[in-house]
Amino acid sequence: MKVRTEITNTTEQVSMKFVTLVSMVSALGGLLFGFDTAVVSGAIGFMEDHFDLTKLQVGWAVSSLIIGCIVGAAMSGILGDRFGRKRVLIAAAFLFIISSIGSAIPESFSGFIIARIIGGIGIGITSTLCPLYNAEIAPAKFRGRLVALNQLAIVTGIFLTYFVNLWISNAGDAAWSVTSAWRWMFGVGAVPGLLFLILLFFVPESPRWLIKQGRAVAALPILLRIHGEELARKEVIDIKHSFEQESGSIKQLFSPGLRIALIVGVGLAFLQQVTGINAVMYYAPEIFKATGAGTNASLVQTILVGFINFLFTIVALWLIDKVGRKALLLVGSASMAICLLVIGIAFQTGHSAGPLVLIFILLYVASFAISLGPVVWVIMSEIFPNRIRGKATAIAAMVLWAADYLVSQTFPPLLGSAGPAATFWIYGSMALIAFLFTWRIVPETKGKTLEEIESLWAK
Ligand code: BGC
Repeated sequence: MKVRTEITNTTEQVSMKFVTLVSMVSALGGLLFGFDTAVVSGAIGFMEDHFDLTKLQVGWAVSSLIIGCIVGAAMSGILGDRFGRKRVLIAAAFLFIISSIGSAIPESFSGFIIARIIGGIGIGITSTLCPLYNAEIAPAKFRGRLVALNQLAIVTGIFLTYFVNLWISNAGDAAWSVTSAWRWMFGVGAVPGLLFLILLFFVPESPRWLIKQGRAVAALPILLRIHGEELARKEVIDIKHSFEQESGSIKQLFSPGLRIALIVGVGLAFLQQVTGINAVMYYAPEIFKATGAGTNASLVQTILVGFINFLFTIVALWLIDKVGRKALLLVGSASMAICLLVIGIAFQTGHSAGPLVLIFILLYVASFAISLGPVVWVIMSEIFPNRIRGKATAIAAMVLWAADYLVSQTFPPLLGSAGPAATFWIYGSMALIAFLFTWRIVPETKGKTLEEIESLWAK
């Protein structure tokens, strides 16, 4: 009895140490995602003066990264399936470092754009492969939490970047800011990039990918470290069995059972973005200014948005393996729809001044942070079968980034032509669709192994 307890304890210790190491990789990958998407918001004003940019070029400075993300996500599946998750993540880490330095030193605007696209490719790749790698390596009982940790890192990256930007822009006078502050803002990204690269050399390859390559012998010690003796051998058999059931071709995704998995993954990816989160994330100061807040107040309110996003992502992490993915999605999307409806009404009826809009934007962000934010990335990384997980997740991630591009490009003109009320109502109706979509189609995946989830589609 005593011996048995000791064995269990040792296994748990090993697996916890291991899981922590893997979590750190995820944390840095997510941090870079958050950093790279948010950093430009603080730098853009100075760059506008330095390069004497037109409005169109300003838009391009912001969106070039997202173009890179679409490309990176598209490539991630094929590369990740071919060369393994780990090697491709290492390549992405190099791209981050090159992009950070490349965005900091250019003398021409086009040099800057090229560097941002390169960084975008890195984000597109990590945004797909980091959660996927985590899902493939995590024990089922805390897979949700581990993958959602990636989201916590994204929001931490966004939040930290607001402060780093503020700190750098206060480090010198106005002339220094225009010539140099923005360079430092981008350049500091090389530090987490380098850490990410170093850490990647200490984690193992995904055991599921190894088995797919016919390297079960190499996968077994990794599974032993995660699960302990008994469960590890069962996992190898289950994983091998799952490969025997699949052809691995993209065509398989359109077969009757798996078609639903594809609809769930792509549908959720699209809905995560068209419910408008990045209209708030990228343009928060503009929205608050439209409610009559001064520049300073609107910056403080933006930091508050970042904080609430961070805080409620922690709540999601705590809940995701307890109440499950579906409950969080349902509550969150319903609450987002209500908040967006109220925000629209406030603008429509002339009650946008005062705290009403701020309060409901914070509630909206909190609702996103407990639902569509983390849960979509979790579900995307776990609903597809082993053999085509890389490619299928990449398709969903590509749709997510393309929808992000659509929202970030259309938000300013929509605000101008349709007005704020209609704009928020459009996002609100999308949140309602997200609720109905989840209710009717999305399955619960909490606590199931990836192979058990796979067998859901066969039924
Ligand atoms: C989304 C990003 C968004 C972030 C905000 C992520 O899940 O994919 O587009 O900026 O959440 O918290």
